[in-house]
Amino acid sequence: MNISIFDNEKLAAAALARRIAVRLKDQPRIVLGLPTGRTPVPLYRELVALHKRGEADFSRAHTFNLDEFVGVPPGQPGSYRRFMQEQLFACVNIDPSHIHFLNGMADDLDAECDRYEQEIHRAGGIDLQVLGIGTNGHIGFNEPARELIARTHRVQLLEPSRKSNASLFGGDMDRVPREALSMGMATILQAREVVLMATGKSKARCVNGVVNGGITTRVPASFLQLHPRVELLLDTPAASSLSS
Ligand code: F6R
Repeated sequence: MNISIFDNEKLAAAALARRIAVRLKDQPRIVLGLPTGRTPVPLYRELVALHKRGEADFSRAHTFNLDEFVGVPPGQPGSYRRFMQEQLFACVNIDPSHIHFLNGMADDLDAECDRYEQEIHRAGGIDLQVLGIGTNGHIGFNEPARELIARTHRVQLLEPSRKSNASLFGGDMDRVPREALSMGMATILQAREVVLMATGKSKARCVNGVVNGGITTRVPASFLQLHPRVELLLDTPAASSLSS
């Protein structure tokens, strides 16, 4: 695993945004895998700034987001689709038909998961997958468990994950969905390149587990140790528990 440590989250985000801009130039049809959450917000801000300066052209790129809630319409506050629209898609020149998202309103959710896998396959696979990480080591909504699921699937959300998403629903836990759809571990690990971003002290313990611990289903992100091209992009607080 390559590890890059930056003084603060803004510098980490700016470095990754510049790299993505270069990739967009070199490989305009790049397929990006994207996360939601607090961590990538500065990344999306930097990408929008680069786009406004004419340095990031998304016109031919495709995106696949990692996950979506079940039962929340895509345009509605709280949905990850809406989050992405506000943070990135509405502010850059991406072709709307190139935005790929799980539909948590689908009548047949299992068929929806299969459709997503096929769509990733048809797009030629994910070139660069950006990830955040939960404090418990989850990636996407692949939560710590005795067994992990390989492909895109339905997930019963654990209470900590529901709580950490409550702000998207005005802090009202009753409105936070109990189910989501998520790319699976193999879907993520098949990306040609993975960049995991972790910022803030609350991520320090799980980051150390990912780097120095064993590979275990109890820390889903530890499976990234098996990937040949993974980079961890950290700020100093997130790197503070790394044993040398
Ligand atoms: C969201 C996702 C999650 C988050 C993780 C960290 O699409 O895939 O795995 O990356 O929960 O969330 P933040 O960045 O809010 O700490």
